[in-house]
Amino acid sequence: MTGDRWADWQWFRTELLAWYAQHGRDLPWRRTHDPYAILVSEFMLQQTQVVTVIAHYQKWLKQLPTIQTCAQAQPQDIFKLWEGLGYYRRATYLHQTCQIIVREYGGKIPQALDTLITLPGIGRTTAGGILSHAFNLPTPILDGNVQRVLSRLFALTTPPHRNQKQLWHYSQRLLDPVAPGRFNQALMDVGAGVCLPKDPQCGRCPWQNGCMSTQTQQQHDLPVREPGKEIPHRTIGVGVIWNAQGQVLIDQRPSTGLLANLWEFPGGKVEAGESVPDCIRREIYEELGLEIQVGEHLITVNHRYTHLRVTLVVHHCFYRSGIPELRGCQAYAWVELPDLCRYPFPQANQKIIQALQESPIPPYPLEMGGGRVQSK
Ligand code: ADE
Repeated sequence: MTGDRWADWQWFRTELLAWYAQHGRDLPWRRTHDPYAILVSEFMLQQTQVVTVIAHYQKWLKQLPTIQTCAQAQPQDIFKLWEGLGYYRRATYLHQTCQIIVREYGGKIPQALDTLITLPGIGRTTAGGILSHAFNLPTPILDGNVQRVLSRLFALTTPPHRNQKQLWHYSQRLLDPVAPGRFNQALMDVGAGVCLPKDPQCGRCPWQNGCMSTQTQQQHDLPVREPGKEIPHRTIGVGVIWNAQGQVLIDQRPSTGLLANLWEFPGGKVEAGESVPDCIRREIYEELGLEIQVGEHLITVNHRYTHLRVTLVVHHCFYRSGIPELRGCQAYAWVELPDLCRYPFPQANQKIIQALQESPIPPYPLEMGGGRVQSK
């Protein structure tokens, strides 16, 4: 495309919308015009894949069908509904946003972009997605997929995170002024299913004939990546501490920071030169003031957060002595295995729970005097 001709921009819009009419995904939030349901979907989709979001979205709306019911819900119920989606701060932000909208905007989602982006957890792309989808307003979007599509479409050779201004410009300039809602949904579908990171399916792309990087065979080399910023990795020793009553100990993380308010099996970072059992013993003493015996290995779980990779090395442990103290956590509980599902856990912990439910309860070491839990 040369220059800035109306007919050229219009060609992109017409091709994309025609393609979407035939190939667009049938997703539950595309079958509704309820702005609250669309708000929920956009929060869930911020960092989680569509396949995972679908069931959570449906369950959420069944339990919290209106913005008022969401605003009034208990934080614990909100976390429970969010369980499995990861990045739990989004759940708190969604809850707070609904409370503000009910309190300050009469339960109606503000339609001004500048207002919407002042609400917790709503950045420009989420706001663009909500306003275009729920109200058909001409607000652009720019998530990771869209950045890739536009970088290829216009053969942009600057890494996307250093080229935000130009990318937003293209997203706005391309946007169909008549059908911005459908246009943005279609753009997301091209990003999610056609213009794939490692395997761009140019033969299936509605924009193949207008794509500047396809014309120069650069599509595999774009977008340009900033040379390797390695994601740090940590090994975490984790203890499933049993008492003689067959209960396990879980604790609730602090109300701020990573995975705030979620429950977990206690543990912490393995220090250089430290064995995993030594780490678990030390962490549990430091965090909870308990003496334990470390037993058999249960499972090792690898998990990736946005800025961190973790390996959780999990051991069965046995309570010896002490009364749990709340040093690094806000609460603790001794729980029977079937009751673990009542507590919201981070995603990486689900595999631990599954392993526990699938393996026999380890015999309590007799030499430990029964391991009766002391109460406060
Ligand atoms: N990602 C963000 N919003 C989305 C939507 N409405 N459909 C599919 N993926 C999305």
